[in-house]
Amino acid sequence: MIRLAVMASGRGSNLAAILQAAAAGRLAARPVLVLSDNPQAPALEVARAYGVPAVGVALRDAGGREAFFRLVEAKLLEARVDVIALAGFMRVLPPWLVQRFRWRILNVHPSLLPAFPGLDAVGQALAYGVRITGCTVHLVDEGVDTGPIVLQAAVPVLPGDTVETLSARIQREEHRLYPEAIQLLAEGRLELDGRRVRIRPNPENGGGDNSFRREDG
Ligand code: GRF
Repeated sequence: MIRLAVMASGRGSNLAAILQAAAAGRLAARPVLVLSDNPQAPALEVARAYGVPAVGVALRDAGGREAFFRLVEAKLLEARVDVIALAGFMRVLPPWLVQRFRWRILNVHPSLLPAFPGLDAVGQALAYGVRITGCTVHLVDEGVDTGPIVLQAAVPVLPGDTVETLSARIQREEHRLYPEAIQLLAEGRLELDGRRVRIRPNPENGGGDNSFRREDG
């Protein structure tokens, strides 16, 4: 079973969805560590509620950005982490850390990338006036929200939507999609072809690929 770390800066609702999936036996990954750059992040409480070791260190207490990420690296190695899921982690990873865990880091972003990368993706989508937005789970490369796309889900923008209402609708899809993407990576079913991600069929269902099937209709 692969060993999973989650990095989160805030609320931790995606973290909760991941830990819930693992607790329910729906993930071939064992969550072994939660890391945050915010010692007050509610995400750390979520981790502790599930009995997962949680470490929160502010950048300035760590001695700056480089020292913070060296500490992160040490914690990841100590916990023998195989795969990292960024779940609302608000810092860009340094290239050396991305390289060290090449194609073993996932991120979730609240837009249909490559539209609206970076901060306030939901606000950007609303301001632009798109009718459909959504969320993306992608492999992390050295850029910001630029890595190969694993799964996406579309979400309609409804009249009267605010950042809050649209974010809530998008997050429901994130909570479904992220554990599914982690599972694909954990099962070794992702294959890179340039920047395109191929999903290998699931041997357990006769070779047919049902990984995109929706369970909530
Ligand atoms: C999510 O919307 C995710 O797309 C973005 O940050 C948000 C984190 O929310 N990267 P939460 O902390 O998981 O509730």
